[in-house]
Amino acid sequence: MKKIVFAENFTTLTKSHFYSSLSFLTYKIFSIRKWKYKTKLENKFLDYFQVYDKKIVSFYNARTGIFQLLNNLWFKSKDEIIINSYNCISVVNSIIQAWFTPIYVEIDSENLWLDTDDLFKKIWPKTKAIIVQHTFWKPSNIKKISSIARENNLLLIEDCAHSLWSKIDNKKLWLFWDFAIFSTWRDKVISWVNGGFLLINNEKYFKLKNKIEKKLENLSLNILLQNHLYNVLAFIWVKTYNFFSIWKTIIFLSKKNHLFNQVLDENEKKCENNKLYFSLPDSLAYIALKELNKLFFIQKHRKDIANYYNENIDTKEFKILFNEQKKEELNYFRFPILFKNTTDLDRFYNHIKNNWIILWNSWTWSNIAPKTSNLEKSKYRWDCKVSENISKNILFLPNWTNISLKDAENIVKLINNYNV
Ligand SMILES: Cc1ncc(COP(=O)(O)O)c(C=O)c1O
Repeated sequence: MKKIVFAENFTTLTKSHFYSSLSFLTYKIFSIRKWKYKTKLENKFLDYFQVYDKKIVSFYNARTGIFQLLNNLWFKSKDEIIINSYNCISVVNSIIQAWFTPIYVEIDSENLWLDTDDLFKKIWPKTKAIIVQHTFWKPSNIKKISSIARENNLLLIEDCAHSLWSKIDNKKLWLFWDFAIFSTWRDKVISWVNGGFLLINNEKYFKLKNKIEKKLENLSLNILLQNHLYNVLAFIWVKTYNFFSIWKTIIFLSKKNHLFNQVLDENEKKCENNKLYFSLPDSLAYIALKELNKLFFIQKHRKDIANYYNENIDTKEFKILFNEQKKEELNYFRFPILFKNTTDLDRFYNHIKNNWIILWNSWTWSNIAPKTSNLEKSKYRWDCKVSENISKNILFLPNWTNISLKDAENIVKLINNYNV
């Protein structure tokens, strides 16, 4: 029987997630609330990042962190926030829900960095902040952007959703800015289904912690149970997918009957999701505390597989983006490959799929991911051609914890023997 190799939808689906979540599907879900795991996790996070003197706020997800931050700053409605034009609709929705206008800046085709010429052109008096994203782990052109921001008196928010614990020139990424945002959603660097953090680096804004926390609410029991159910069913599903097709049916029915909560609901794709006020539940923080201990192992695994791809792939079919930085302490969260055109990409995707390997493609086909996002509502102005082109020609090779070296070898063989 062939083994199906999945892409990145289940970053860190482990036995420990499974057993913890199983126990939270019982009466334990009520008692955990009293045990203050959220506070313990926040302290551990600060400790882990060696930023004891900073402030941290935890949320149900990172999009809530972005919304709450923007909503609690002093900006006026319709002020502008600059973002990468290759982005996720959840970021855009948070900006729009806080009554600001997202302004999309072009990226460069090699590093996916913000294009500073375009950035200059788009700064004017209504611009209030820049949210800089380290796309797929690759550190952005931080120094240049921070000097532009300082010169123009703009706030800098670092979107570290893809770059937990990455460094550049031995400096921690998240300390260059006024604020940093982290996501631990279920396909991120590490995960406990849902989670997001706001790190406040600039002392001037430390008071925001209390201000924001006062406005947060507890997640409903219903949604919390859906999160734990996801951990339990998805674990069984991944482990048994190849053997018992009955699980395909169970997952299908679970989705249909809303037993799982969705990643992005239809409102979010239209930038109309205003449920951005939940704090991180203690039961998820409990799982998170265990998961943080594994960060280096998870990162090393991603790096080993990425290095294997880098060293062994020999093809003219696509170009490997970001293949040069082995020495940096990076998380290699994604392994992006770039095709010459969409026809080549589609052909390759289907070929690999026919060989039981499902590649991650959530950031393919639209520069505001996913491809079903409503671009009109996102206020994108179709003026960032590099982003548009990259999104049409990009795919990702898997390197998450469930991908063994043997799987990677098989993928490389398939690639090297691929003849159109
Ligand atoms: C770059 C980026 N920033 C922020 C987010 C939002 O993270 P979360 O899913 O935790 O809300 C995402 C979501 O995928 C993302 O890709």
